[in-house]
Amino acid sequence: MTPVRVAVTGAAGRISYSLLFRIAAGGLLGPDQPVILQLLDIEPMGKVLQGISLELRDCAFPLLEDVVVTHDADEAFAGADLVFLVGARPRGPGMARKDLLQANAGIFAEQGKALNRAVSKDARILVVGNPVNTNALIAIKNAPDLDPRQFAAMTRLDHNRALSLLAEKCRVPVTDVRRITIWGNHSATQFPDLFHAQVQGQAALERVDRGWYENEFIPVVQHRGENIIELEGQSSAGSAAHAAIEHMRSWVFGTPGGDWVSMAVLSDGSYGICEDIVYSMPVTVAGGAFKIVDDLEINDFCREKLTETERELLQEREAVRALL
Ligand code: NAD
Ligand code: LMR
Repeated sequence: MTPVRVAVTGAAGRISYSLLFRIAAGGLLGPDQPVILQLLDIEPMGKVLQGISLELRDCAFPLLEDVVVTHDADEAFAGADLVFLVGARPRGPGMARKDLLQANAGIFAEQGKALNRAVSKDARILVVGNPVNTNALIAIKNAPDLDPRQFAAMTRLDHNRALSLLAEKCRVPVTDVRRITIWGNHSATQFPDLFHAQVQGQAALERVDRGWYENEFIPVVQHRGENIIELEGQSSAGSAAHAAIEHMRSWVFGTPGGDWVSMAVLSDGSYGICEDIVYSMPVTVAGGAFKIVDDLEINDFCREKLTETERELLQEREAVRALL
């Protein structure tokens, strides 16, 4: 079978250390699909990258056909079918994700150009490096020959956090919870929406108290990233790698009947959200392409939250205008 080329940036970093071994073991594309890993990091990380390449080979993964390590983005992206843009500085204690914008924005302008030159023409590209939404917008704008729908930014970790918290509260398995949505920015303004969620087929907001939803659930999901940083001294890595795998699996294999997932994608004006920002939406996937779920009722409470996170994304866009 023809191997799938999977490019990963920031390959010497913490998230990638969880991600790469799962991809090579078949955790991304299944037990029959060979892969070639194309790993990018900055030149000073060359020795670490070499070590990781040796470790990958030392696993003797039957599905791993080759490992390329490089500090040249064009080489890393050459012919890539699936791309994980992880390489970016993480935030530390006391920082907001948007504080990373100046440090990381330039990376996504350069890599957008390299993607435009090098990837397979139907590649799917997932941005994981923060601040994800605006970094994805920068990459999209610097890759004019690619379809913006080939890009998404990751809010699957927020989605999974919401799923797990609701399931725990209702004392049901996570598989009994459906139709969770994360709207907007992967930041503290994101809106975890339970108005359309279902628990065992029943409206989620009939199963939990509205006070718990507004005063505990929403802020816990919005601030989970900084909570992890306070506790671990560094940002989430295992859960982030898992979310990246799940996001890409949904994108490749589709969403199960009747359910949806959250992906931050270039707004097409759906739900009245301003075009030309990357905004997390509920999406279904079929045939490798996502479709925004388009018929949800948005009440006044939701509208206010959708607008607040939209406003923040518009401000982020202004801050990087020169790179778009
Ligand atoms: P890390 O510091 O451990 O690793 C980042 C790696 O990127 C480093 O090896 C670094 O050398 C590399 N890098 C820097 N500039 C690069 C460039 N131009 N090209 C290629 N590689 C480059 O960080 P991490 O914990 O792996 O996190 C990576 C990013 O993911 C951070 O921005 C973090 O905030 C973000 N993140 C996002 C989510 C999410 O839910 N979307 C979750 C967790 C972390
Ligand atoms: C997260 O949500 O855990 C990541 O985006 C890391 C962070 O900075 O919060």
